[in-house]
Amino acid sequence: MAFDRFGRNIHYMRISLTDHCNLRCVYCMPEDMTFRPSAELLQDDELIVLMRLFTSLGFDKFRLTGGEPTVRAHIVDLVQEMTAVPGVRFMTMTTNGVLLGKLAAPLKAAGLQRVNISLDTLDPDRFKRLTRWGSLEQVWEGILAAEQAGLAPVKINAVVVRGYNERDVPDLARLTLEHPWQVRFIEMMPFAGATELQKTQVVPQKEMIERIQADLGPLEPANDGKLDGEARLFRLPGGLGEVGFISSVTVPFCASCTRARLTADGKLRLCLLREKEVDLLTPLRAGAGLGELRKLVLDGVWHKPWGHGLADGQVALNRGMSEIGG
Ligand code: 5AD
Ligand code: SF4
Repeated sequence: MAFDRFGRNIHYMRISLTDHCNLRCVYCMPEDMTFRPSAELLQDDELIVLMRLFTSLGFDKFRLTGGEPTVRAHIVDLVQEMTAVPGVRFMTMTTNGVLLGKLAAPLKAAGLQRVNISLDTLDPDRFKRLTRWGSLEQVWEGILAAEQAGLAPVKINAVVVRGYNERDVPDLARLTLEHPWQVRFIEMMPFAGATELQKTQVVPQKEMIERIQADLGPLEPANDGKLDGEARLFRLPGGLGEVGFISSVTVPFCASCTRARLTADGKLRLCLLREKEVDLLTPLRAGAGLGELRKLVLDGVWHKPWGHGLADGQVALNRGMSEIGG
């Protein structure tokens, strides 16, 4: 089992399969984004070696992220191989949904259990403005395909950006009246090359709740008021689903963090919002044995930072979101 200095048991690994993406969301990357050459990314066999290492250290919960994980070559075969590693109890994915229309059923058959799908607005024009390249219709098809394939319960992630979609918050919350989905609103976070947008256009949880309640009535705490992972959950009266808030900026949840991350280029990242990383790819390619890699992971986890410094205006500047995967 992997513990940090603060007694947190770290057993949830989020693995970025690629920094590439088929969209260009304004809060994530510039339109002319350049990506890493594939040779710099962890190859399939290297990923499996590291998965085995992680499960041997007690990691049992995995989430595949990006960039956009579904644009990785042979994604279905890779998911199948990864879920087959002994010790994997949960395997989920965070995706923009663009390719789910085609991939939802094969991914489910390959052993994927659930997906979180990004959807920031239900208005086609505003969707295009936020994602630059996306089609709302395609993502909506992807969401329905995921549900049909049994990648359920479907969770929807909406990053809220002032001037883009803060008025869409109630409409997205309304989805939970008719669908057994969890719609989670995410406070925008600043990353490397933090744009003015990321720093100045954050919509705090409090305002999102006020906007929802003004249109749809009172939100009732769900899940006994406890956090579900990183989300605080509520229910609209009579709703089938849940409304959640992931509020890293105004209500941090670092104390209960159980996560570490593996970047697409093979670095163990101990906190989404801190620069500290441990290189695993270089020793792996240099022929390091399992014992050596194990020690690197355990030492890295032990020194996991307590939490982020967003409240003090501290921003991690060595990587953007698309390289860490949220
Ligand atoms: N702040 C918060 N969430 C972000 N995401 C991307 N960029 C940001 C940001 N600046 C989210 C996406 C997706 C996940 C991969 O990360 O919406 O849900
Ligand atoms: Fe791609 Fe997700 Fe970033 Fe949007 S937020 S550009 S979908 S990686």
